[in-house]
Amino acid sequence: MTTDLIKDNAIEADELTKIYGSDNTKVVAMRDATMHVKQGEVVALLGPSGSGKSTFLTAVGLITPPTSGRITIKGKLVQDGETSYANLRSFRRKNIGFIFQKSNLIPFLSAVENIQIAMELNGESKRAARSRAIELMDYLGVADRADNLPSMLSGGQQQRIAVARAIANRPSVILADEPTAALDGHRGRQVMELFAKVAHEQGTGVIVVTHDHRALDVFDTIYEMEDGLMRKRPLETQKKH
Ligand SMILES: Nc1ncnc2c1ncn2[C@@H]1O[C@H](COP(=O)(O)OP(=O)(O)O)[C@@H](O)[C@H]1O
Ligand SMILES: [Mg+2]
Repeated sequence: MTTDLIKDNAIEADELTKIYGSDNTKVVAMRDATMHVKQGEVVALLGPSGSGKSTFLTAVGLITPPTSGRITIKGKLVQDGETSYANLRSFRRKNIGFIFQKSNLIPFLSAVENIQIAMELNGESKRAARSRAIELMDYLGVADRADNLPSMLSGGQQQRIAVARAIANRPSVILADEPTAALDGHRGRQVMELFAKVAHEQGTGVIVVTHDHRALDVFDTIYEMEDGLMRKRPLETQKKH
């Protein structure tokens, strides 16, 4: 990977504000939140419940538009306030991978089929999708689980399949909302390490919302949110490169 690639921003979120409701039901969930994530950078976003983390992530993921502020993905301005500058569905499918607290795997499809389907929906042939799905399972250490239904897998294995599905279409951005909340410390850490591996090896920009302070050393950068305000943790407490 070239240095230039590493320097480019995968995500630029500038001054995002989100107001839910109106008048006396008004909630300012996020105010002027700004975060830039480089290609190949893995960022943790911390903060108490209700501080606006999911609001930020769903805005950056082009799911719920901000009231104001700009979102630039891989150099393209896609969202300015409530105005979108792309077909969001196809832009999301090609550029953004999501991982949630629960893996949300389709229960009647095998592990490999769950990964495959993401690529088939993106126009990939069944054969190519299957071969890449198997390759990804190998990469993420769950190759031996290919033919199992999700119910046969542990929580940690299910999250690995969810990670494989999220990276299958080679997105430039991965967004994970408390992906390890349902896992024990050891398995949670293993999943966090996967995010760092994907960021560093594939050049993906990754944001992980987490309450888990035990695995923070795997992240390049740490942001915190409180009452809708975002701040980057000062440099001296960040991981040294
Ligand atoms: N759809 C919604 N309508 C109204 N208020 C909401 C909505 N979603 C979130 N909020 C409020 O916005 C604030 C931030 O919520 P959220 O982004 O979910 O925080 P976090 O993910 O940090 O727990 C909270 O006060 C929450 O109640
Ligand atoms: Mg949340």
